[in-house]
Amino acid sequence: PVSRYYDLVVSRTELAPDGCLTEAFTVNNQYPAPIIHVNKGDRIIAKVTNHLGPNEPTAMHWHGMFQRGTNWYDGVPGMVIENSTQCPIPNDVSFVYDFSTGKQSGTFWYHAHIRGQYAEGIRGPLIIHDPDDPYRDNYDYEYAVTLSDWYHDRIAELIEKRMAPSYGVGRYDCSAAPAGSKCQKDNPLAVYKFKSGKRYRLRLINTSAMAHFIFSIDSHPLMIIEADGSYTIPYTVNRLPIAIGQRYSVIVKADQKIDNYWIRASIDSRCILNTTETLNSNSAINYNVTGILRYIGAEKIEPTTTAFTEELPVCLGVPQNNLKLLKPEPVPGPVTDHILFNVTFGTDQFNISRAFINNSSFVGDINDPTIKKLATHEINSVAEIPLKANAYPLENPDGVVDITILNSNGGIHPFHLHGHIFYVLGTGPGLVVDESLLNLVDPFPRDVFSVNATSWARFRFKTNNPGVWSFHCHIEFHVEMGMIAQLVELPNELSKVQLPEPVLDLCEKYSSSNKPDS
Ligand code: C2O
Ligand code: CU
Repeated sequence: PVSRYYDLVVSRTELAPDGCLTEAFTVNNQYPAPIIHVNKGDRIIAKVTNHLGPNEPTAMHWHGMFQRGTNWYDGVPGMVIENSTQCPIPNDVSFVYDFSTGKQSGTFWYHAHIRGQYAEGIRGPLIIHDPDDPYRDNYDYEYAVTLSDWYHDRIAELIEKRMAPSYGVGRYDCSAAPAGSKCQKDNPLAVYKFKSGKRYRLRLINTSAMAHFIFSIDSHPLMIIEADGSYTIPYTVNRLPIAIGQRYSVIVKADQKIDNYWIRASIDSRCILNTTETLNSNSAINYNVTGILRYIGAEKIEPTTTAFTEELPVCLGVPQNNLKLLKPEPVPGPVTDHILFNVTFGTDQFNISRAFINNSSFVGDINDPTIKKLATHEINSVAEIPLKANAYPLENPDGVVDITILNSNGGIHPFHLHGHIFYVLGTGPGLVVDESLLNLVDPFPRDVFSVNATSWARFRFKTNNPGVWSFHCHIEFHVEMGMIAQLVELPNELSKVQLPEPVLDLCEKYSSSNKPDS
């Protein structure tokens, strides 16, 4: 296989992606982070160097990559089996990720997987081109389009606010920015140039921390051909809802008159606040992130086009049964392991708002000073921290696992599984699974699926990838509040694994960077 080398330096800088200058974290001084293009089967060798400064360790996750045989390059520190995954990368230290893309292809992304850092800017596209792409003759050019939210408060502070006993959301926009802040009003918009008569593959990636997006291009329908790395039978929509973490490839035909058209990614405020009251209220505020589709030959002006108007269910994705695999596969069975996850919000014994899975809230690496601070709040002794791992062993080789989520709260949660894609068997209202709604014939596999408020959902996957894989809501605030479980897949295999030297070495560097008074 071909090896592709990347040098990714993570550092602090000032950025104004929306016209308003704020402090940000970047990769190679770029936002979004540099695009990674590889071919199916390639090996990715990415050296990540942390220059974020003292007490800001980092770790990089390759969202959607199975990491078969390389669990420790999944980029999630603080997992339950010691050293099954990497330690955080301390300041001024480099760590080399080295993994194969295997048989996977399609649209992915990479992001920091520690302390909300990705919302600060450490997020970029990862595209795996497929030499055997069945749609190769259906498009002429392609673009990667990342959709993201952006906050003017430091993300660590937002998390604290959100998690404090009385929380507030703390979202700023430029017009509300305090006097004296550096704000540029007519910040230039992204322009995508289209050649009349050509066909474009857009790879859409929702890289948000909190925002569910509805993507559309005025007068241009979107033909879906790929979702989360699987080819679909073509399915055309005008407005495409994309949950946090999800990806789609769509083909857009430049068959309209030569002009400018709005590209819209709209956020419904109810999906950010995410409580029963706001979901039921009619007071939705729509934040619109816009770009311009400009035909070559059109005047360089802003569009005056009107949007598609069909209504979509609030904060939910494409109905899962509307997506069909291009190459159907039999659904695995019979089920060997059934896991039930009951998802709730509440407060812990220190009166801190937390998220719970089966009454237990995940607290990661206790040596991480921020996590320590959040977990202990005003408590000073580490001994008092309730460390909860939320670990579920899966011990059957070639087992078939059903995860049933009972979302008994008023929020919508885009759940993501590492190391796998899962078939979305079904979802429905209430907290009792209605078996008649399960699709055991041709369910579609994904790595993120949004579960509606006060609803159930069932996912299925096979145990064929030894590792400790996290399963979590991809809303960054819910992650920080502890909405994570870890699946310890094939622990017997795992225990035979010899960790590579650099992974062990990183843990040594990390623990010495955490020595008291250093
Ligand atoms: Cu996109 Cu656990 O990550
Ligand atoms: Cu959530």
